[in-house]
Amino acid sequence: MEAAVLAWSRDLNNSCDSASRQYPILPQEGKRNILLTSALPYVNNVPHLGNIIGCVLSADVFSRYGRLRGWNLLYVCGTDEYGTATENKAREEGLTPQQICDKYHAVHAAIYKWFQIDFDYFGRTTTEKQTEIAQNIFWRLHERGFLLEDTVEQLRCENCQRFLADRFVEGTCPHCSYPEARGDQCDKCGRLINAVELGEPQCKVCKRTPIIRSSKHLFLDLPKLENELEQWLDRSFSTGDWTANAKQITRSWLRDGLKPRCITRDLQWGTPVPHPDFKDKVFYVWFDAPIGYLSITANYTDQWEQWWKNPQQVELYNFMAKDNVPFHSVVFPCSLLGAQDNYTLVNHLIATEYLNYEDTKFSKSRGVGVFGDMAKDTGIPSDVWRFYLLYVRPEGQDSAFSWADMALKNNSELLNNLGNFINRSAMFVTKFFEGRVPVMELQREDKKLLALVGWELQQYIQLMDKVKIRDALKHILNISRHGNQYIQVNTPWKKIKEGDAERQRAGTVTGVSVNMACLLSVMLLPYMPTVSQTIRDQLNAPPSCIQTILQGSGAFVCVLSAGHSIGSVSPLFQKLEADQIEALKKKFGGQQQVPVFDLNILTFIYIILSQGEKVRALKAQKAEKTVITAEVAKLLDLKKQLLIAEGKKPEPAPQKGKKK
Ligand code: 2FM
Ligand code: ZN
Repeated sequence: MEAAVLAWSRDLNNSCDSASRQYPILPQEGKRNILLTSALPYVNNVPHLGNIIGCVLSADVFSRYGRLRGWNLLYVCGTDEYGTATENKAREEGLTPQQICDKYHAVHAAIYKWFQIDFDYFGRTTTEKQTEIAQNIFWRLHERGFLLEDTVEQLRCENCQRFLADRFVEGTCPHCSYPEARGDQCDKCGRLINAVELGEPQCKVCKRTPIIRSSKHLFLDLPKLENELEQWLDRSFSTGDWTANAKQITRSWLRDGLKPRCITRDLQWGTPVPHPDFKDKVFYVWFDAPIGYLSITANYTDQWEQWWKNPQQVELYNFMAKDNVPFHSVVFPCSLLGAQDNYTLVNHLIATEYLNYEDTKFSKSRGVGVFGDMAKDTGIPSDVWRFYLLYVRPEGQDSAFSWADMALKNNSELLNNLGNFINRSAMFVTKFFEGRVPVMELQREDKKLLALVGWELQQYIQLMDKVKIRDALKHILNISRHGNQYIQVNTPWKKIKEGDAERQRAGTVTGVSVNMACLLSVMLLPYMPTVSQTIRDQLNAPPSCIQTILQGSGAFVCVLSAGHSIGSVSPLFQKLEADQIEALKKKFGGQQQVPVFDLNILTFIYIILSQGEKVRALKAQKAEKTVITAEVAKLLDLKKQLLIAEGKKPEPAPQKGKKK
């Protein structure tokens, strides 16, 4: 308690060095230099809430926190743009892969902006730097003998003129004879399949029979790198913060023994393999994508190597969902170790579990769940979305997003607990003390509270330092709960009307409370940046309060001293009403068919126009009738979907030969 009282009356730290961010951010001598990445989201989809909490939002909270702590930190991310999935999406939408990437890169960027994800740089993988760095790593691996050549049998559709990725071929399962097994796995018996073993294989796009063709590929020789990898992992596990799931997934990969992994693909949309014997091939996305972290940094600054070839000075944090772990803990580190270029390897691997939607999974095709682009249409502020997603962050175990729970947490925790406390404290200053923080004379009870609040703050810092973001949030809410109790017990609104001693008591309680409100605004900043700023504006809090609180000894300091004038006060949160939540739940519940293109009607129209153009071009070229019919059918279907998306009723399908 004595320590808490001493800390409370410590001088304010007036340095304000983290206020503005320099460009470029580079490692600095004598600082904690943190390079922070969030898994690069695939460009061919709109991210759902589970994707958002799994990487970009979690990493954002940690990076905001790190900056408050005064760490020298760079946060990079970007879209993962190459691969079959992009090619297929392009085919599906009648666009080129480049158009798909441009379109969805912008969609991702807009969503993250709305969620206030504060990247230092949000790039993409389809850049010249990517080619340069990926090819450099490739040649270094090649020169050092870490690549193997092998021939692989693959299915090729001569009609579509492409090798068929496993998901694009169907046939009879060799194990259970299920007739609609995919090329990688049978949905009936669940067993893994090698596509060439399928009976009566069919190209999923054109339904013709593919042929077997052998093709030469390059493999990363993981067994040869295994020893070095294990030694490095031992060090990284013991000195860094790896989530339990990350360690466990990595160990199980090692336990099974590493096998060479194919790093090339017969595709067009990818980083070209520079080796003359493999000219028509590109790198496999999972070889390519993590190199995106480097190339994105290189697009941010020419001095990118100061981050990426500097393990002595830099600590690397990788944020991701658990399915990405082995690529970040085994495959990519092996690429970098084998390249022998003093690369920075991951020190802290932070993996989330999965977030479900209500009691099911998010599903784009079934129209189930909230996707990033829809959150803003709910009218619920971005900060509240952030709060709830972080409150249920799948930290240590799977968790679920639930509308009813979101409403409950908004109404109980944000409105009744946090918002109520901050608003009351500030209103007392306004109403009873002419907007000036009153003189405080601490009694035993106040000192006890200071100690309690100090303890919660310490817990928060310890947990945040270990990236326990969800757990740390609970300590913020504990502080406002203590505060509400303190006000309730001390009834300053009554005491202010009584004698001098009582008025003095009301002043102390109000002064301590409003200082707690200020502390809360700082602790909240990583979670709810807008609300945090609003509170500090209302309290007219000096910018230095942040440094004082989080860069000093991490104690609860009186940052709004007697006489300080606060600003104008207003409520921070709004109630979520039951009928509003019911309506939202219905809208996103998956009962209704949400079309594939629910981005917005404009994009949809754009796609329809492109499809129309395609049909016209085919007709002009006098293409085969079946091809034209198929494309026309697709066009009609798109138009129908547009009507549904606009909430109109589609007309019955036109009779053959009647209408165009
Ligand atoms: O799972 C995904 O969304 C991948 N695009 C993540 C890639 S992370 C990194 F390696 F680029
Ligand atoms: Zn085909």
